[in-house]
Amino acid sequence: MNDKFPFIKGIGKDDVPVILAPMAGVTDLPFRSICRDMGCDFTFTEMVSAKGLFYGGSGTKKLLCTAENERPCGIQLFGSDPHIMSDMAKQITDEYKGEISLIDINMGCPAPKIVNNGEGSALMKDIPLASKIIEAVSKATPLPVSVKFRKGFNEKTVNAVEFARMAEESGASMVTVHGRTREQMYAGTADWDIIADVKANVKIPVVGNGDIFSGSDAVKMLEQTGCDGIMAARGAQGNPFIFAEIRACLSGKEAKKPTDGERIDMAIYHARKLCEYKGERSAVEMRKHAAWYIHGIHGAARIRTEINRCETYAEMTSLLKLYKESLTTQ
Ligand SMILES: Cc1cc2nc3c(=O)[nH]c(=O)nc-3n(C[C@H](O)[C@H](O)[C@H](O)COP(=O)(O)O)c2cc1C
Repeated sequence: MNDKFPFIKGIGKDDVPVILAPMAGVTDLPFRSICRDMGCDFTFTEMVSAKGLFYGGSGTKKLLCTAENERPCGIQLFGSDPHIMSDMAKQITDEYKGEISLIDINMGCPAPKIVNNGEGSALMKDIPLASKIIEAVSKATPLPVSVKFRKGFNEKTVNAVEFARMAEESGASMVTVHGRTREQMYAGTADWDIIADVKANVKIPVVGNGDIFSGSDAVKMLEQTGCDGIMAARGAQGNPFIFAEIRACLSGKEAKKPTDGERIDMAIYHARKLCEYKGERSAVEMRKHAAWYIHGIHGAARIRTEINRCETYAEMTSLLKLYKESLTTQ
């Protein structure tokens, strides 16, 4: 067992876990399952509204379904009411026994509709309330609780270190720091120095997040911040191969990049998994993934236009197969 990450099954005693970030609308069950197959050590559900669960939304509940090969995994809750958050944490713990090993609290989401509700990264501006939420959730569940947040709300109010200390004192067993402010959303570069500052100031494990797009980025982040785990988000979009690449680089081996054909094959496989899980109409959801998979391949711009017209799994896969063939016959 890994003492720092007892909730991650199957990693070695001294391994640095490589984690898939939660991404609403992207990291659904089929994609998470693929990432696990590609060497990702731990996954989280997309963010789940505690209020949505409380009021019994079936769409919200479906977000808590997990794939067999990712269990036990983390679920991510967001909300600003300590009572609802703790009630839902307790309910999930009881209902999903054996399937989940960690409850993460989202305190970093920058989306206006979340922030305007006082949720996500808005909580970085209200440390006492954030603390109450973490304390309430930690008391409500025997599972470890982690918190994912940003560098700060904006450049004038950078408070990740203070926030991390508060999270630790309030009962969190791990923190994940995304080195951007809320104001930056996803633009600019992530500040890894703030991750190093957090690491130097808390005893609980710190997962570094922001701008991991290759295996060498992961090695650099580890060296620069001393963080305990690595989390990739956009770098995994259309590129679940990144987990094998990171794992290879962390072990000092040369990373093998997938060929164009392998990327298209993975897109076809992903489309099939998505169709099996969500039905034929999931081709519409697959469009963005397919566009990510083929990004940078010769002729991708033209194919992207056609991808965006695909309505069914059959259309999507035949288009991708033809595209792959056209590359080999050139
Ligand atoms: C489309 C999208 C959806 C996201 N959804 C979530 C979410 O549900 N929960 C969360 O904590 N972060 C979410 N994030 C933020 C990522 O987890 C991550 O913190 C951020 O993208 C920075 O990492 P990166 O530079 O590797 O992309 C989302 C990001 C993107 C691009």
